[in-house]
Amino acid sequence: MRVGVLTGGGDCPGLNAVIRAVVRKGVTAYGHEFIGFRDGWRGPMEGRAVPLDIPAVRGLLPRGGTVLGSSRTNPLNEPDGERRVKEQLSGLAVDALIAIGGEDTLGVAAYLAEQGVNVVGVPKTIDNDLSGTDYTFGFDTAVNIATEAIDRLHTTAESHMRTLVVEVMGRHAGWIALHSGIAGGASVILIPEQPFDMDQVCRWVESRFRTHYAPIVVVAEGAVPTEGRMVTKDDSRDAFGHVRLSGIGEWLAAEIERRTGTEARTIVLGHVQRGGTPSAFDRWLATRFGLHAIDAVQEGAFGTMVALRGTDIVRVPLSTATARAKTVDPALYQEFDVFFG
Ligand code: F6P
Repeated sequence: MRVGVLTGGGDCPGLNAVIRAVVRKGVTAYGHEFIGFRDGWRGPMEGRAVPLDIPAVRGLLPRGGTVLGSSRTNPLNEPDGERRVKEQLSGLAVDALIAIGGEDTLGVAAYLAEQGVNVVGVPKTIDNDLSGTDYTFGFDTAVNIATEAIDRLHTTAESHMRTLVVEVMGRHAGWIALHSGIAGGASVILIPEQPFDMDQVCRWVESRFRTHYAPIVVVAEGAVPTEGRMVTKDDSRDAFGHVRLSGIGEWLAAEIERRTGTEARTIVLGHVQRGGTPSAFDRWLATRFGLHAIDAVQEGAFGTMVALRGTDIVRVPLSTATARAKTVDPALYQEFDVFFG
């Protein structure tokens, strides 16, 4: 079989580990041939392909980013996009495609699978907001990076007795904010799923100062005040209709200063959360996803996505995996009430 591989959407640590596992098992166990498509769905749409074999994947396990490149190209939004993808796949004699991506990339995969394309999905995103899988790879690395930043910020915040607001990624889901905030001992954690009351945030900040500790506020980029709206960078949208977020951290620090009369500063972690080498857990998960994805191809289980359930890797329909975002349950968030303020 000739198998194509692509990585789409925002990059994330572990993408290369999936590619390596797919190719290693595909060549060794099944005798498949591989080609890598460049830059997400742009690759199969424009026929941008590179050869992939075992020498090409040597040394990839600890490497961040993706050697195939990535983009947010949506072929279903392009003139004749679907037809061009199908023609390129058949022109390059590709029998099956492994699409590694988040809700957008896999949404395209789900649609194309319904149109008869042989595609298997692998879930990735640092946001951990994909349904159908307990965890996506990339998330653990992002949480570790954010936690280390929070640990470092505690000492400088306390030296100056000021509030430090740490803005982390998380468009619709507050998984990174919640996990890193709890692991890093934050005094306030704000997530997109729970609109926050600015008066309450200020009460938590003031009560933290009263105990002679400096407050650390962790906020997901998609968090929204009860009276207000999501803060966006500008009005531009990507090919999947997403606005560019970032700005809520600056807004919060300014409001804390204005309402409490105490000093507050903001740190936006941004893409540092997606960069560099994957954690051991993400290398392990990405490797298992890769091994199971090539098994799914071998068995003709097209239209499915590999997923983590407990400690098992299972297959779920691509359509259910991409139907809605996996968000933080209010009960889980409330478990940590006692640490706020
Ligand atoms: O989807 C993952 C993610 O990291 C989001 O948390 C974030 O909003 C977005 O990507 C930013 O992506 P980019 O910088 O590629 O536009």
